[in-house]
Parts: sequence; C-alpha cells; structure tokens
Amino acid sequence: MKRPLLKISNLETGYDNLKVLHGIDMSVQEGALIAIIGPNGSGKSTAVKSVFGLTTHFKGKIRFQNKDLSKYKTHEIVRQGVAYVPQGRLVFDSLSVEENLDIGGYNLETETKKERKQRIFKLFPILKEKRKHQAGFLSGGQQQMLSIGRALMQEPKLLLLDEPSLGLDPKTQQLIFKTIKDINKAGTTVMMVEQNARQALKICSKAYIIEQGRIAAVGGPSLAKQKKVKELYLGG
Ligand SMILES: Nc1ncnc2c1ncn2[C@@H]1O[C@H](COP(=O)(O)OP(=O)(O)OP(=O)(O)O)[C@@H](O)[C@H]1O
Ligand SMILES: [Mg+2]
Repeated sequence: MKRPLLKISNLETGYDNLKVLHGIDMSVQEGALIAIIGPNGSGKSTAVKSVFGLTTHFKGKIRFQNKDLSKYKTHEIVRQGVAYVPQGRLVFDSLSVEENLDIGGYNLETETKKERKQRIFKLFPILKEKRKHQAGFLSGGQQQMLSIGRALMQEPKLLLLDEPSLGLDPKTQQLIFKTIKDINKAGTTVMMVEQNARQALKICSKAYIIEQGRIAAVGGPSLAKQKKVKELYLGG
C-alpha cells in the first residue's frame, strides 16, 4: 500500500496543562475523505487543530509527507499544503466576499489569485454573484462556502474542516456535503469533523470515532451498520 499522506502516531495533545487526546493513531491516504465523529467534548476539534499546530503537544508524531508537523508552527504548516476551516465559519464580516478570498490568497501573485478565485466561483456560483457584498450579510450557508473558499485559495493538499454543516438547514447541509465531495474528487484530501454522523459516514472513505480523547472505532461507511454506532450516533 502507498505511504499515507498523513500519519498520526500515538498523539497526545491538549491545551496548556490539559491533555485532551490520549494517544491517537490515524492514517490518511492521499485522496481520502476522512470523517471524524464522536460526542461533544471528546476531542474531535482538538484532533484537527493539532494537525494545524494550534494545540499543546505532549507526545507523538504527525507525519505529513516527510515532515513531522508536530514540530512546526501554523504558518509553516500552511506552507506545507494544509488548510483549516475552523468550527463556526469565521469570515471577515465587514469585508466583501472577494476581499475575504483575497485574504485567503494573500501570498499569491495577482494572476494566480485571479485564477483561483475563478475556480472557487465555479464551485460556489453564489459567491460570484455576491462577490461585492459584505460577508457579514451572507446567509450561514454562504458564509460556510466563503470560509471553505478562502481555505481553497491556497490549493491545499490536505483540507481540514471542522463541523462544516453545523447550524445549517438540511438543504444547505446537503449542498455543503456535495461540494465537499466534489472538492475531494478533484484531488484534495479532506479530513472533516462532523456532528451529522449519518451524512459524514455516507460520503467518507474512512471514519474515526473519537470518545474521551481516544479512537473508539475506525472503519468505512459500513460503520453505520454497527449496532453501537447506530445507537450512539445515528439516533437508533
Ligand atoms: N482552547 C481551549 N483551552 C482549554 N481547553 C479546551 C480548549 N478547547 C477545547 N478545550 C477542551 O478540550 C476538550 C475537547 O474539546 P474539543 O473542542 O476538541 O471537543 P469536540 O469533540 O470538538 O467537541 P464539540 O462536539 O463540542 O465541538 C473539552 O473538554 C474542551 O473543554
Ligand atoms: Mg468541536
């Protein structure tokens, strides 16, 4: 089997003195769409934040290509080809849609920036339509698209998404899931934390269940058929 793009081994991370993850292992092949599910407060966000250098590192490795990201600062991790969309779809409210995208591509040449914006507008036509609008006036779903679009400005190899469907109506959730699948199909490896376990299990190539800072289960979409998973995460 090919060497994974990302391999997390025996990772222990947290915040200051608080240890949240107690030795997790994850293996992400290039082109995979990984879902991370689990109860509130179990360490799902901490797992993706750790890959992006936003936690306190106690132990373990985060090997991405040939680098150990656990030794890197966030801006260096970005340069390695990792992008992160935080929980809560953060956009710059008072800036326009286009300016938000420009910030995502702050380090790019003008021509490249233009090209990438065109690609994002193709993925999210509504953002093109609203490119001069202030981001603060967009709907929740449109802000989520903008957050994802901003991350895509870097054309990352690995896209980390934290709860992309949270707080959106079912129709918009479907649209977001479809887009995530499209982004993945176009070649970006995706690692996504999702409270909508049913949808996440449907679209992923592999899922991890994190409970109390440990991997409780790992498997493909067929995890959804397991009795315990059904009871705990899929409403019976
Ligand atoms: N910045 C922080 N500083 C201190 N503790 C934190 C911080 N962020 C999270 N925690 C704690 O770490 C633990 C795991 O949090 P985390 O955000 O990873 O959970 P989660 O699985 O993403 O939960 P949710 O489903 O609610 O988003 C929780 O006990 C939380 O209170
Ligand atoms: Mg979270």
